[in-house]
Amino acid sequence: MTDTLTPILTKDWDTPDSWKLDTYVRGGGYDAARKALTTMKSPEVIDLVKASGLRGRGGAGFPTGMKWSFIPQDNPKPKYLVVNCDESEPGTCKDMPMLIATPHTLLEGIIIACYAVNAHHAFIFCRGEVLHAIRRLSQAVREAYDKGYLGKDLFGTGYDLDIVVHSGAGAYICGEETALLSALEGHRGQPRLRPPFPAVEGLYACPTVVNNAESIASVPAIVRNGAEWYQSMGTEKSKGATIYSLSGHVKRPGQFEAPLGITFRQILELGGGVRDGHQLKFFTPGGSSTPMFTPEQLDVPLDYEGVSAAGSILGTKALQVFDETTSVVRTTLRWTEFYKHESCGKCTPCREGSWWLVQTLRNLEAGKGQEGDVDKLLDVCDNVSMKSFCTLADGFVACITSAIKHFRSEFEAGYHTPAWELFPYEKSALF
Ligand code: NAI
Repeated sequence: MTDTLTPILTKDWDTPDSWKLDTYVRGGGYDAARKALTTMKSPEVIDLVKASGLRGRGGAGFPTGMKWSFIPQDNPKPKYLVVNCDESEPGTCKDMPMLIATPHTLLEGIIIACYAVNAHHAFIFCRGEVLHAIRRLSQAVREAYDKGYLGKDLFGTGYDLDIVVHSGAGAYICGEETALLSALEGHRGQPRLRPPFPAVEGLYACPTVVNNAESIASVPAIVRNGAEWYQSMGTEKSKGATIYSLSGHVKRPGQFEAPLGITFRQILELGGGVRDGHQLKFFTPGGSSTPMFTPEQLDVPLDYEGVSAAGSILGTKALQVFDETTSVVRTTLRWTEFYKHESCGKCTPCREGSWWLVQTLRNLEAGKGQEGDVDKLLDVCDNVSMKSFCTLADGFVACITSAIKHFRSEFEAGYHTPAWELFPYEKSALF
């Protein structure tokens, strides 16, 4: 664990046996769930979360309490909560460490959220490749059942709740909420058209809340400390604290929990700065699917509004740092290869566009590009952007267009010079 400015979700990550139920309960764990279920009515819990200003931590920043309030309580069908733990955005590593270190925080948040929306079944859709997280989570669920925190008659209130841990099969697209629901139902993981939004017609065509793991895990502290406490952190429209993942060419990569609105410069300092003898070239504010920033944006506040005003998206708060030894052409190619591989193939612009973009980028990386290739890239991006079924395609377009905006000459150098000649460090890393 690294330095953290607002230890809320991360406060016990270094505690021995932090993942065990006894450790969690000794630190006051499950008291917030008890408080919610025994002293509050469901709508009061929703109002509290609304008042806290908590916004979705999966990337889109949709207000959590408002999402819960969309669940139609006059609908006789069962209601479900589905927790999105399919964290896969390149550079994003905040939910997985949390699941490994303190899985009971998530389970307590699930109890409160389910009670708030009147759901009796919750599903945790966990990224399949991270076996250790799934084991920890499954063990925590078993412990919670054994001690009566899950199952029948929670806290003697007559309220029942069951949780199922579901392992994904390694598809990035299943992080998209409707693809996730399809996969959970046993179908191919491909996005569905919205509306209807899951709140109205989600899992098994029933009203469903889909929330990111960090959003749900933030709820117990809000119930324990109140909405005003949460509101006192962050900025005017981006309340509270969150976990930023810092990776790449920094001295101390890791997770940093800080109030929304902290600047990248401050986080970089917490991470010890760019590695010795090197300078920052570019960074992503929210994973590779968000337009990249350069040192000019070091002081942009990392909140939803600040990052948008500067031309990007806060997204998953994955700060990937690249120094001057990095070929931006190769970086963009690697990302685009990832998105091409992960495109579900349902719609043509994404499926074919990603293929064309990879071919052109490969040529430029190898110094075999042709005059006009950079404009061709932009043209293909234009034909893909906002013309696809979900946001996967918009994501890979964002990394390419922003890279060209900042480093066009580096792409044009690909008409005659391979990237490994311009960036010798990369050559040693490659061969
Ligand atoms: P979105 O803005 O379309 O929706 C956000 C949430 O609000 C959804 O749960 C949606 O159901 C709900 N919502 C929106 N309008 C609604 C309405 N009128 N009625 C009811 N519910 C409504 O964003 P989307 O497509 O769900 O997510 C995109 C984000 O995902 C991107 O910003 C990206 O940063 C992030 N992302 C995260 C990844 C990860 O690994 N955590 C991977 C890839 C992308």
